[in-house]
Amino acid sequence: MKTKIINYPDLLKARDRHKSDTLFANAHVSHLKEMEELGKGKKYYIHTYGCQANVRDEETMRGMLESVNFIKTENPSEADVIIINTCAVRENAEDKVYGEIGNLKKYRRSNKKLVLAICGCMVEQPEILEILTQKFPEVNLYFGTHEIDQLLDLIYETYNSDIRLISIESKQGEVIENKLVKRNNEFKAYVNIIYGCNKFCTYCIVPYTRGKERSRKFSDIMDEVRRLKKENYQEITFLGQNVNAYGKDLDEGHDFADVLEEAAKMGIPRIRFTTSHPWDFSSKMIEIIAKYDNIMKCIHLPVQSGNDEVLRLMGRRYNREHYLNLVKEMRDKIKGLSLSTDIIVGFPNETEEQFKDTLSLVDEVKYESAFTFIYSPRRGTPAAKMVDNVSYKDKSRRFQELVKHLEVNIEKDSLSYIGGVYKVLVDGRSKTDSNMLSGYTESNKLVHFKGDENLIGKIVNVLIIESHTYSLIGELVDE
Ligand code: 5AD
Ligand code: SF4
Repeated sequence: MKTKIINYPDLLKARDRHKSDTLFANAHVSHLKEMEELGKGKKYYIHTYGCQANVRDEETMRGMLESVNFIKTENPSEADVIIINTCAVRENAEDKVYGEIGNLKKYRRSNKKLVLAICGCMVEQPEILEILTQKFPEVNLYFGTHEIDQLLDLIYETYNSDIRLISIESKQGEVIENKLVKRNNEFKAYVNIIYGCNKFCTYCIVPYTRGKERSRKFSDIMDEVRRLKKENYQEITFLGQNVNAYGKDLDEGHDFADVLEEAAKMGIPRIRFTTSHPWDFSSKMIEIIAKYDNIMKCIHLPVQSGNDEVLRLMGRRYNREHYLNLVKEMRDKIKGLSLSTDIIVGFPNETEEQFKDTLSLVDEVKYESAFTFIYSPRRGTPAAKMVDNVSYKDKSRRFQELVKHLEVNIEKDSLSYIGGVYKVLVDGRSKTDSNMLSGYTESNKLVHFKGDENLIGKIVNVLIIESHTYSLIGELVDE
């Protein structure tokens, strides 16, 4: 099979942050009519790995495919288009993708017209793309995070030829509005407010895969929120690699606090946001979060390490003292605050003493939840060039120790819910017990309880009767 390369990724270009203003454009499909014909009677399968930005991209792709008559299937064996939407943040996410392509490639043998596509952050890395193309000749379409909006035209070209298409442009990125979106959920919605990242933490691949920080126009965001309110959405989550940087690249005079406040005034019952970088979290934002009942008192504030030298080497732009002061201001001003974080253990040459600083910070902050990771070198990032003298065995031990410290407070926090009545937005049947429903409290605790399916999508009162580390058991309380 011949390969046609429209664009090939280049990490040097991906780092570029010096060009002119962001381009704002509307989504456009060149082969719309042809794709409407092609989609008739055909099915698509998408599997997404990674963060909420990827989930949101999946929704865009679903919307595009369904707008041209494709029907969703959960069974890849009957699909005419298979898309694996990948994540590059850590090596184990990539390993899962290799495994899945290995399982799916057989369908190309039984269906010669199958479009087997790999997209997302993984393929934005030239060396990984090289491995993929050599290892899996069956894959016939690769496209990057900046090409999501060209999906239909890319499928059209792949389907109608016997070539393998690679369209991955490393660039700073645009802001595309009016996308055809099919939301995954009818009462909870993600709303992008800013794309990309300019922070370049030394361990992280994201700024290379997702381009520069670029905010959507304030009015476009608010139009979307207004539509969601009209459609009776119960919860929206504002998304960005760093939501606090919202507006800094525009001349509109709006910041993230303004986004929160304007949305809160529209009356959506639950407003969430993620992720916040501690570096540009302003007092104004804290005040707005405290002021409005429908802004959930949950802040995801990745710390990564509790040691100043490690934070410096990570390029995090804050130190332990600054972080702790910020947490203090948040806890003082926001009643019922639930703090969560991301922590990396085993950054190159992290000493036992430096790791202990992370443990003491965790003990001091008392997080309500946390994501913990063992450092995974990402080729092309500055940290990947650092010589590392810490064994994997030590890293794993530190990881276990960290989880134990975190769980002390998480368990205590869960226990404190017993006997109280909490508002739960019901997600659906519980994944662990189909006789139960499950949903989340305002503070983002997972609750299982018995109830009727017609409660799905509603906010109900639940009395908590039992606690586990990561979930609660409750009973429905009559209104
Ligand atoms: N190794 C381990 N964890 C990482 N993260 C990002 N890059 C890496 C890496 N190379 C973690 C950070 C980030 C979260 C999304 O993933 O903690 O906040
Ligand atoms: Fe990665 Fe740092 Fe940007 Fe988060 S802020 S996406 S960790 S570079």
